Amino acid sequence: MMKAFSRGRLGTWLARAGVGIGLVSLAAACGDNQDPAGAEALWNALQGSDYRGWERAPGYDARTPSNAPHGGEVDIYINDTLAVALAANEPLDAWPNGSLIVKDGFDDGDLDLVAVMEKRLTGWYWAEYGDDGEALYSGTPDLCVDCHRSGADFVRAFGFP
Ligand code: HEC
Repeated sequence: MMKAFSRGRLGTWLARAGVGIGLVSLAAACGDNQDPAGAEALWNALQGSDYRGWERAPGYDARTPSNAPHGGEVDIYINDTLAVALAANEPLDAWPNGSLIVKDGFDDGDLDLVAVMEKRLTGWYWAEYGDDGEALYSGTPDLCVDCHRSGADFVRAFGFP
């Protein structure tokens, strides 16, 4: 009964949205895990890194309310490579290779998402995980890239020195 109802509702919604847009939205709802093995390796590396002991991003000295789609409140941590580049206070137009930013997103005080950006020789690598470490997004998902394009070398939370 319930199932038929939701199928019917989705069908109506797809028809209204047009099949093309409908399929894109469905794909987004299921995430975009382009690189499952790489995402798992990055998650494991992060768990071994004690990233919650890293420096916090400028302007994010404590848990901060957020309007971004990564939870109602966020903690943002930056690794040494990025912290050193910020502290040097020299003009930059890109963040150094090896920069790593980890954002814990919370809803009602509970960890909901972990979003990660790592600057590699090939550019930013993106990943987002559920609180259990399951990768929802990885690689270079359009969703992440498009919204972060307006940032300082794709970083939205803080700018260049
Ligand atoms: C609709 C816009 C939007 C989308 C989509 C989005 N982000 Fe963000 N993201 C933001 C904003 C705005 C911030 C700034 C911090 C805040 O307010 O939470 C941010 C911050 C971050 C940060 C902290 C570093 C920084 O850039 O500020 C990471 C890491 C991050 N996002 C990862 C991701 C990943 C991975 C995806 C794709 C799964 C993604 N984001 C999709 C808007 C977006």
